[in-house]
Amino acid sequence: MTASSTLGVGFLGSGPVTQAIHLPALARLTDLFTVRAVMDVSEATADGVAARVGARGTTSVDEVLEDTEVDVVAVCSPHQFHAEQVIAACRAGKRAVLCEKPFATTSDEASRIAQVSQETGVPIIVGAMHTYDPGWVSFTKAWGPARGSASHIRCSVVLPPNTRFEDFATEVANRQPPQEPSPPNSVDDRANRLRGGILGLAIHDLPLIRAFLSTTDGIVVHTAQALNPFGYLVVFSCGDQVVELHAHMSDNWSPNWLLEVYADDRVGSIKFTPSYVQAGSAEAAISSAGKQVHFAPSGRNGYVEQWQHLYDIAHGEPAHFSPTDLIADLTFALDLSAKASSALASSPEPAGVR
Ligand SMILES: NC(=O)c1ccc[n+]([C@@H]2O[C@H](COP(=O)([O-])OP(=O)(O)OC[C@H]3O[C@@H](n4cnc5c(N)ncnc54)[C@H](O)[C@@H]3O)[C@@H](O)[C@H]2O)c1
Repeated sequence: MTASSTLGVGFLGSGPVTQAIHLPALARLTDLFTVRAVMDVSEATADGVAARVGARGTTSVDEVLEDTEVDVVAVCSPHQFHAEQVIAACRAGKRAVLCEKPFATTSDEASRIAQVSQETGVPIIVGAMHTYDPGWVSFTKAWGPARGSASHIRCSVVLPPNTRFEDFATEVANRQPPQEPSPPNSVDDRANRLRGGILGLAIHDLPLIRAFLSTTDGIVVHTAQALNPFGYLVVFSCGDQVVELHAHMSDNWSPNWLLEVYADDRVGSIKFTPSYVQAGSAEAAISSAGKQVHFAPSGRNGYVEQWQHLYDIAHGEPAHFSPTDLIADLTFALDLSAKASSALASSPEPAGVR
């Protein structure tokens, strides 16, 4: 394939995720994509990042959307701008849109995006990279029908701060100085941090967890805590299925990102690689009655597969996830974050989490 048959990419927002995740993923897919435009509200960031990949830098969203060399748009701005930018990209008649998670901040916004995507015929995918990870895909094929099949699901994430992995991937241009963690001295502060943890980190795995739940109606939160300096501990149930979510980001070395699924007759585990580094796919296993099936990691991670899927849907292939799925995933995450933060607000603070 020649460079002229690649799809032109325009980025809206070119902070750490664009620089340390998407550009390295695209560097592995030069037969499919060419980065044409890089937009950021910071001119220095836009120009600096654009120069690295031979693209045009701009501070104007319209300039990217009007650029006829831009076929697909990647929305990588902060959460609150996602909905309006995805809608504008659809209205500009682009061939497909990739929106970083979460693709909206309310269910109403998500429904509006789905409606505009349907009206304009522009397909959208959300950057929930674990749903594209080859390890997860092999696991679900081997597991079979998932809905209602597990009694207990646990997701545990122990990671060093993002900046460590960003620095492994690239030299981040114009990185914002780290925010001083606000002292967790009020219930509101802890509830906000818990909400941020669920919508910022747990959201990667909630679509996977939802695949196993018979229903997401009637979430009952049993435990909800914010951990310092960043993390959470949430236990909830939906019907008779129990879910544990745990995350802790501290200055440790070893990363661990593990999803475990327990059913009466088998146990499954999926160990994801950390974000920001091209460390291949997850490694997965299913054990039952003394037998274990193991899914070895492949060299392609969820981000590379996500871009491949964007290329495919821009060429008319059906999307893996319908707008209804995307809205249901977002609604589940929003509902859980609201219930968990209100449970935290009404529970006494346990020792050891401050
Ligand atoms: N998929 C993943 O693994 C992953 C990991 C981290 C973050 N994210 C998501 O990616 C998005 C960006 O994350 P980040 O860490 O790069 O965030 P960030 O907030 O550090 O950087 C975002 C960039 O957007 C720019 N910006 C601000 N307002 C803008 C606007 N109106 N339009 C365009 N750009 C604007 C900022 O100047 C900054 O350069 C967030 O939605 C986040 O949730 C995804």
